[in-house]
Amino acid sequence: MSDPALVPRHPWKGRRVVLGVTGGVAAYKVVQLARDLTLVGADVDVVMSAGAQRFVAPLSFEAVTGRPVHTRLFSVDGAALHVRLGLDADAVCVAPATADFLARATQGRADDLLTTTLLATRAPVLICPAMNDRMFAHPQVRANLAHLRDALGYQVAGPGQGRLAAGEVGEGPGRLLEPWQLLEHVGRLLGTQAVFAQRTVLVTAGPTREAIDPVRFVGNRSSGRMGYALAQAAWRRGARVVLVSGPSSLTPPEGVETVHVETAIEMRGAVEEVLPDADVSVFAAAVADYRPLSSRDHKVKRERQGSSLSVELTANPDIASETRPSRRPGSVTVGFALETEDLLENAARKLTSKGFDLLVANDALEAGSGFEVRTNRVTILACDRAPEELPLQSKEGVAERVLDRIAELLEAGR
Ligand code: C5P
Repeated sequence: MSDPALVPRHPWKGRRVVLGVTGGVAAYKVVQLARDLTLVGADVDVVMSAGAQRFVAPLSFEAVTGRPVHTRLFSVDGAALHVRLGLDADAVCVAPATADFLARATQGRADDLLTTTLLATRAPVLICPAMNDRMFAHPQVRANLAHLRDALGYQVAGPGQGRLAAGEVGEGPGRLLEPWQLLEHVGRLLGTQAVFAQRTVLVTAGPTREAIDPVRFVGNRSSGRMGYALAQAAWRRGARVVLVSGPSSLTPPEGVETVHVETAIEMRGAVEEVLPDADVSVFAAAVADYRPLSSRDHKVKRERQGSSLSVELTANPDIASETRPSRRPGSVTVGFALETEDLLENAARKLTSKGFDLLVANDALEAGSGFEVRTNRVTILACDRAPEELPLQSKEGVAERVLDRIAELLEAGR
């Protein structure tokens, strides 16, 4: 998520996050995380180890969170600061988590404010390791991390592979995840809902490209943004999410299994593979209705082609409709309809003809809605309920409301 000011405030808003920072150079990236968490509405209590303060000044965190930063176990704030922080927390995130921190947390040490807070809290804990790739590969570090995950139930995010402290590229994982990824992991910690845990959500997104020749295609203006927002939001709610995406310039959502496809036929194949596991299927892709009957092996040359070119098109499969016979019993299916006229009539027809439980309709010609924009004004249709008109808002906000409606259906067992 590139612009936190635009994201939905669910599930961060009004939630208390203890952000533990330990002594690694990646601590500078965590200032950004503290800022983003604050922007999306969380109350962020930063707890810094002594080592962390050698990399980043507490004042940086105070400036971006607007709250005091905690550094000492024995302070005038009261001897039981760790107990209060631990009790009040809705989530604890340690980033970066150094090798030394992992060892001390594994032992259950209680010799600084962060380790004592960890012992005092019953909130979910997220550990975000970052260190040199050779250190991270050491069996002792791996054993410590396995203990924190398997015995204590802590979540672990990263590390990723890539450029390390001095700019060299690591051979293995060691690099701290990017702040936007960490924000999503904290979001999942706060946002997991029982009804989505252990569920598989399939989302199709983006346009498809149907080749005319090796360089040209038939396509459409879909950016994929609505589907990507839905996939990310479903993951934050605790689901396993598979996103089948046509060509899109967007960064794949964090934690989501993204399958890249180009054509409608490829999208159908990828959907068929996931469908037997899908508890929820959301068809947000703008699939090209037609594809060239045949694609040429070589680029069409104007000199040879002359003044006109005809491309015969043939209908693509209707991916969503085709899934009807093989959908899991009790699963929830959601479609989208982008129309330029008679919006509600056309949408209501698609709801029933394609066998959707919910249909999200929007008007392609309305300003701030539809393709290539970050906002959407939609109406959600369902068979047994009056259409729900939502106000113009970010696509992330629309995704949250659609997921609320999906949750209601899952809870009711449909
Ligand atoms: O294009 P149309 O408005 O009919 O799309 C309605 C719904 O059907 C959307 O959810 C879209 O993702 C899905 N669809 C599909 N395969 C197609 C056309 C549409 O899955 N070939």
